[in-house]
Amino acid sequence: MAFLPLWVFVLAGCFSVSLAEASNLSDLYPPLWEESPSQFSDYRVENGKHIINPWVYPDRIGAYRILLNKTASYFEKFAPENELNLLWGLPLQHGWQYSSGRLADPSQSTDCGYESGDHLCISVDSWWADLNYFLCALPFLAAVDSGIMGISSDQVLLLPPPKDQKKFCLSVATCQSSFPKAMKKWKDFYQHLKVASSSFEDLLEYLWAAHTATLENTYKSFEDRFKYYSKPEANFGRSWLVNVKYIAAIEFPTTLIRTHDFQKVLPQRMLVDGDTAPFISDFTELQNMVLLGIKLIYEVDKYTGSLSLTIMETLMKTPGAKMVVLKLMDKILEKATPNFLEIITN
Ligand SMILES: *[C@@H]1O[C@H](CO)[C@@H](O)[C@H](O)[C@H]1NC(C)=O
Ligand SMILES: *[C@@H]1O[C@H](CO)[C@@H](O)[C@H](O)[C@H]1NC(C)=O
Repeated sequence: MAFLPLWVFVLAGCFSVSLAEASNLSDLYPPLWEESPSQFSDYRVENGKHIINPWVYPDRIGAYRILLNKTASYFEKFAPENELNLLWGLPLQHGWQYSSGRLADPSQSTDCGYESGDHLCISVDSWWADLNYFLCALPFLAAVDSGIMGISSDQVLLLPPPKDQKKFCLSVATCQSSFPKAMKKWKDFYQHLKVASSSFEDLLEYLWAAHTATLENTYKSFEDRFKYYSKPEANFGRSWLVNVKYIAAIEFPTTLIRTHDFQKVLPQRMLVDGDTAPFISDFTELQNMVLLGIKLIYEVDKYTGSLSLTIMETLMKTPGAKMVVLKLMDKILEKATPNFLEIITN
């Protein structure tokens, strides 16, 4: 199984960046985190409903901020300062999309998302923004519906984008009826979060199940967005989507420091015509290697008809094999914190 070491190698690339010197965890927060809404009362209220405009970056990141705040108490038992909250992966990923220019209008027909224009605007034509929408709206609304956000299900409404409104759901009720499977998986996650005996590993499993279901139920609606992108960026998007399934199979712990470090090796800008890993001159060697690895995973998956994923998932279901992978990773990565391995293997 040459494939498994390959993937471990890619992840090792990510891990081998020295762990953030996190003297202050707030340095790792997504851009504009501290300036975004931190409670429901920071949003406008209309007819008893809090109105969130998820097509403006601080509004969307604010929804995550409230979610992280309201779930913090459940993760206290694992570490202080909410560092091991597994939901960090979502806003951090969105922060990377923002700072790398991936939320801007890829058709360039508006100034939405551009520094010189409406820089906080999130474009509905951005493939990244559309997929992230559901990785924000569904976990957020499912949390409301699970009773952990302190408001009732009919007290919050998301505003529609300027076009393609039919592709999106805007409330607990409409997301529930349009995406019942994914909503159920997020509610399962919160259900287990509320159970004091749930382990970190259990929660990780429910989180990734919900994450994967969300993408599976939504990505097909946004294939058309790729027409706006350069070939390398479109290929990267497609490859990333496939890679997320492998990251899910490995059950990558989407905690604050881990995710922050992982993202350092992702492309810090949109790919343009002519960008070919591992020869992109303004990327680090590691970024080039990881980009190449992401492409290889995509191709192995494609040419084996996802058999590689099935094998990986099956392997990962046996605790013995997971331990082997983790130990192997530990060996490669002198710098991996023993703490982290302890947490997920216990
Ligand atoms: C961490 O950074 C925040 C924001 O910059 C600041 O308010 C806080 O005092 C810092 N904490 C420590 C322990 O340095
Ligand atoms: C959550 O937000 C409240 C109100 O803004 C704040 O007092 C509290 O410290 C926050 N909790 C965490 C864990 O960040």
